[in-house]
Amino acid sequence: MLRNQGIQASGIWVQYRLYIIFAIVVILIFGFLPRSNDHGVGLLHSSSSASPREQAANSTLGFEKLIALSPRPSWRTRGLKAAADLVGLDFHVPIQPHNPEELVTAFEQIGKDQGKKGPGHGSARAWLAHLDMLKYVIAQGYETAFIVEDDVDFDVRLKDQIRLISDNVREFTFATDRTPYGIDWDVLWLGHCGSAIEDSMPPTLKYRDETRCKTELYSGWSKHFLRDKLEEDHRLVQTSMQTVCTFGYGVTRKGAQKVLELLGTGGNEAYDVSMGSFCRSEQLRCIVVNPQIMNHYEPPKDAGYLSPVHVGDGQGAAADDSSFETKMGTTGNIMQSARCKALFNDVCMRPPSEM
Ligand SMILES: *[C@@H]1O[C@H](CO)[C@@H](O)[C@H](O)[C@H]1NC(C)=O
Repeated sequence: MLRNQGIQASGIWVQYRLYIIFAIVVILIFGFLPRSNDHGVGLLHSSSSASPREQAANSTLGFEKLIALSPRPSWRTRGLKAAADLVGLDFHVPIQPHNPEELVTAFEQIGKDQGKKGPGHGSARAWLAHLDMLKYVIAQGYETAFIVEDDVDFDVRLKDQIRLISDNVREFTFATDRTPYGIDWDVLWLGHCGSAIEDSMPPTLKYRDETRCKTELYSGWSKHFLRDKLEEDHRLVQTSMQTVCTFGYGVTRKGAQKVLELLGTGGNEAYDVSMGSFCRSEQLRCIVVNPQIMNHYEPPKDAGYLSPVHVGDGQGAAADDSSFETKMGTTGNIMQSARCKALFNDVCMRPPSEM
């Protein structure tokens, strides 16, 4: 009897040992695999297994968060949503705190006693909104974030463009990690309205991108730099030189804090101008992709459009927002606007100009 039981018991072991060994192996593998990060991204969905360029093409463009700066829902945010859905982006629109007039006015005055040119009222309000956004990014503890203004626009081929930007920014910064853009920068300035290309500037990296705006179709003050210093169908990764307009820019965790500390001191015409000057003086490490991949969309002029900054600066009053929704406007320097494709199934490039 005893012998028999012994035989039966070992029979069960023989019968099930493969399952038992398999179970032990599974427990060991999952027990010792590194834990996914503390943001709750599951092991199987962890993006770190994707290549840097494929991370860059995810719904937050390879940043931890993609954020739109917006005072309130309007044609701007609705158009942005349509464009984002079309190309597969996921924007987060945090509630923007309303700053009191006194704070805005006080900010305008900073540095005036030292002869600095302060911002106009609307520019000061927009400036403070950017600072509030940086505080939000810092408080959330994001590793990286990309901030856009809510009238931003981009090409329907944005994901192709961003893969190339990932490849080339990584090369430009000698990145050895597996992040989409490395982390050796404070500001990654992808949406702007022009950047200079100077002979004396630090080394640049040129790459081919056939989706970029043709030089003859470009509109903006920096057009002659494209004509004289960069061949057709190419973009340049470069250090920021006189870059203006903050349509879209990435910040690293430490970059957000540095920008806040430097630009929080006011004393310049506008947020973008101040950013450009701290980039130029190399107090900020700013990487620019030139020409830009993001630009602002503007409703048709004859619909009475005036930007909130200009209204705030006292240059007039804007027409009722809703009148802009049915008439197509323009976006400069973007060959195939995602907004116009999504909203009007059309292209809407602003006519070329030297300004
Ligand atoms: C996109 O990639 C970045 C970098 O890997 C990551 O931090 C972010 O969470 C990803 N976005 C989504 C929606 O998974």
